[in-house]
Amino acid sequence: MRPVRGIVVVALLAGLPLTLAAWPQQAPLFDPTPWSGDCDSIESVPLRQHVNYDTDIQPIWSQRCANCHVDWGEFPEADLDLNPPNSWYFLVDQASSNPNATQIRVVPGQPRQSLLFTKLNCAIQDVGLRMPRARPDLPLDEQALVHDWILAGAPEHGDDTIFRGGFQPRG
Ligand code: HEC
Repeated sequence: MRPVRGIVVVALLAGLPLTLAAWPQQAPLFDPTPWSGDCDSIESVPLRQHVNYDTDIQPIWSQRCANCHVDWGEFPEADLDLNPPNSWYFLVDQASSNPNATQIRVVPGQPRQSLLFTKLNCAIQDVGLRMPRARPDLPLDEQALVHDWILAGAPEHGDDTIFRGGFQPRG
């Protein structure tokens, strides 16, 4: 090996730990809130790495929340407008419109803390009824999509999860 090339190789190897140390660390995605026994288990549905709000989540609202929160008559139920393009703004970091509820509709990163997810996932509610009201419960794969979107930080468009570290068991 010519000396110059050897110096370059040594310099690159020496710099590697520094480069790795400076690489943005992805905190493991984990919602510490315990699962409640009144809620459906989504354990069997593989974790989705990339969830797109516009193409994965909005179609659930448009199909299953119609007449009440989508394409309503006079006012959306519970002041919750799930029509595109408003729905994201009515959900993320928004307080419940119910004066007896203390929950936030969507807490980014914390699905089980989010009123929206518990309304879709759990039989017993602190306030009001399970959604979609008076209709069949959401299939588990749709519940899991909503869960994984919130866990990924509830991004508005596309997905922000390109550095997410692979599939993980649900915790
Ligand atoms: C048949 C009408 C109806 C349908 C369908 C329906 N909802 Fe509701 N929703 C209501 C009513 C009425 C309330 C207020 C009472 C309550 O919380 O139970 C409500 C409340 C909510 C709340 C709580 C809002 C807050 O600020 O407290 C969420 C979240 C919600 N619905 C989500 C959904 C989603 C998501 C769907 C579709 C998957 C859906 N709902 C389908 C009637 C409906």
